[in-house]
Amino acid sequence: MNASGPCPRCPAKQCGSDHAICAANATSTSLTPSQRSRTVGSPATVVNGDPALLARLLPSRPAARPPLFGRSLQSQHLPALRVPIPDTCSCAVESSADDTCAAVVTSSRQILSNVVIKQNDLHEGYGGIHPMVAIQAHQRNMPIAVKRALREANVDIRKDIDGIAFTRGPGIGGCLSVGSNAAKTLAASLDLPVVGVHHMQAHALTPLLTSWPNPPKFPFLTLLVSGGHTLLLLAKSLNSFRILATTPDESIGRSFDKVSRMLGLPWTARGPGAALEQFCAQPREGEVPELPPYPRPFKGQLAFSYSSLHSYVERYIDSKGGLENIDLPARLALARGFQTAAVAQLEEKVLLAFQWCSENNVQVGDVVVSGGVASNTYLRERLAACLTKLDISNPISLNFPPPALCTDNAVMIAWASMHRFLARDYDDYTIDLLAKWNIDTLSP
Ligand code: KG4
Ligand code: ZN
Repeated sequence: MNASGPCPRCPAKQCGSDHAICAANATSTSLTPSQRSRTVGSPATVVNGDPALLARLLPSRPAARPPLFGRSLQSQHLPALRVPIPDTCSCAVESSADDTCAAVVTSSRQILSNVVIKQNDLHEGYGGIHPMVAIQAHQRNMPIAVKRALREANVDIRKDIDGIAFTRGPGIGGCLSVGSNAAKTLAASLDLPVVGVHHMQAHALTPLLTSWPNPPKFPFLTLLVSGGHTLLLLAKSLNSFRILATTPDESIGRSFDKVSRMLGLPWTARGPGAALEQFCAQPREGEVPELPPYPRPFKGQLAFSYSSLHSYVERYIDSKGGLENIDLPARLALARGFQTAAVAQLEEKVLLAFQWCSENNVQVGDVVVSGGVASNTYLRERLAACLTKLDISNPISLNFPPPALCTDNAVMIAWASMHRFLARDYDDYTIDLLAKWNIDTLSP
C-alpha cells in the first residue's frame, strides 16, 4: 500500500500519513454491516490493528478524544455523523468478587457502556464478601447487567459485537463461573469468539485506555492494590509482567476492610475501605491522642505485609476493653495512623522498585496505580509526593485510572481482551477458570 495514496480500506479517509497502518489494520478487522454504518462523533478516532501494531501505536498516535463514558454522553457532546468505523467491539463481563459488571468497549477507546451492579449492602452484615451470597447475586444480576450494557451502548449484539470477554481469574471460583458461563453461552449462541482475561492484567492495562493521549509506555511500574492483591510489577508488554513485590499475608484492601469493621464504621455505598478513607478525612474532634508507632514490616525489602497493621488496631482496641471505651478522637487517631502506615509501605516499596530498576538497567518513565484502593485520595497525594523524592533526571509520570475504573468493572476486561480479539487469539469455549492465577505466568 502506497503510504501517500488514497486508502481504499479506510472508510474515514482521514488516516493521513498512516495509510499503511490503516490498511494493515483494516485487513485484520472484519466489519459487520452495522459497524460500517454505526453513528459516531468523529472518524478521526479510528485506531485499530494487530496487537504488536496496537502496542506500538499506543504511545505515539496523535491525540484523539478522551474515552467516553456511555453512549448518552457521546451523543450529548459530539455531533452525530453517520460514518463507518472499522472498530473491533468487545462486550465483557466481570464477576470475580462482589460486583456484577458488563461493558462494551471499542478498539478506538470508546467506552460505550459501563454497568456495575454493587452488592455491598448484601455483604455488610457478614463483615466481608460471603461467597454464596455473592454467587447468587451474580446469578440474579448478570442478565440485567448485560442487557443494560448493550442497551446503553446502543449496539446490536448480533451485528456490532466482535467477541465476548470474561474474567477467567483470579477470583472467587463460584463467582467467576457465573461470568464465564454467561460469556460462553452468549458467544456460542451468536457464534462469536471468547477471550478469558486475567483480572490483575486488566487493572494494570486500564491506563492504556484512560491516560490517552499520554498512556504509559512499556516498561512501566504497576502498583495493583485491591481486595485480593498487593502487587508491585514491572509491566514489560501487554502480557508480560515481573512481580517485584507481593504480600505473604493479606492484601492492603482486605486490611482496610478489617480496620474499617473494627472501628465500627458503617459501609458507604463504595464499601468499607472508602468508608475508612471518609472517616479519616473528617475534621479533627478535640485532642487527638499520641499512639505508639505502627509497625513498618519488611523495611528496606521489596515485600509488603498488612496483617500486622490490622493486628495493631485489634490489640489497641482489646487493651482498652473494647471499642465502646474509645472516644472519637482516639478512633480517628487509630484510623489515620492505619491509613498513613498502609500508604507509607507503598511509598517505600515504589522507591525501592526504582532502585531495583536502576540496578538492573531498566528505564522506567511511568508508574501505574490501579485496583480498588487506588481510588483513595490520600494514597494518590502521597504517591505523587513520594515520586518527587526520586533522584533521576527524567520526570516520572504517575497514572491513575479515574476512581470508577480503579474498582472492579468490565471496561477493563473488555480493554484487556482487545489485543487478543485483534490478533484473533481466541480461547476455546471449554477453557477452564483459574481461581488462583499468577500474573507472571501469562506470557509463554
Ligand atoms: O479492585 P477491587 O474493586 O476488587 C478486588 O479485585 O478486590 O478492590 C476492592 C478493595 C476493597 O478492599 C475496598 O475496600 C478497597 O478496594 N477500596 C478502598 C477504597 N475504595 C475501595 N480502600 C481504601 N480507600 C478507598 N477509597
Ligand atoms: Zn479488582
